[in-house]
Amino acid sequence: MFRLHASILASLALVLTPIAALPVKAAGNPDAAKGLVAEHCSECHAVPGYSAQGLPTVEAPSFQTIAENPEAYPEQRLRTFLLQPHWPMAQFRLSPSDIDNIVAYVRSLASE
Ligand code: HEC
Repeated sequence: MFRLHASILASLALVLTPIAALPVKAAGNPDAAKGLVAEHCSECHAVPGYSAQGLPTVEAPSFQTIAENPEAYPEQRLRTFLLQPHWPMAQFRLSPSDIDNIVAYVRSLASE
């Protein structure tokens, strides 16, 4: 009986290990970006779970729009863009890992 279980477990491990090792969609961790996005981006951008307050004169694209239009917003464009604080954002510096996480977060919205 124990032998049978052991061999079943061994084959399960063989099947599951490659699945666990599959690469995630992007290098960043989308969940790690959520707090940052809620605090620093949702003021102007519509983000799922938050309603953008908007600014009187300019309209910031919703993160959903950015996610669903990779031709208009390719990943490299997002990365380059996020290296600099953008008007009318206040002086605001994102670290490379923040950028990875935000890009992964935005990408994760595309499939929702
Ligand atoms: C004070 C308002 C404001 C805040 C806060 C803000 N944004 Fe924006 N953002 C804008 C506006 C307005 C635009 C559109 C005008 C532009 O492209 O500069 C924009 C454009 C963008 C774009 C599209 C850039 C492109 O390629 O055209 C991205 C991506 C973006 N914001 C990400 C973010 C992220 C991530 C945060 C939080 C860290 C953030 N924004 C916070 C106002 C804001």
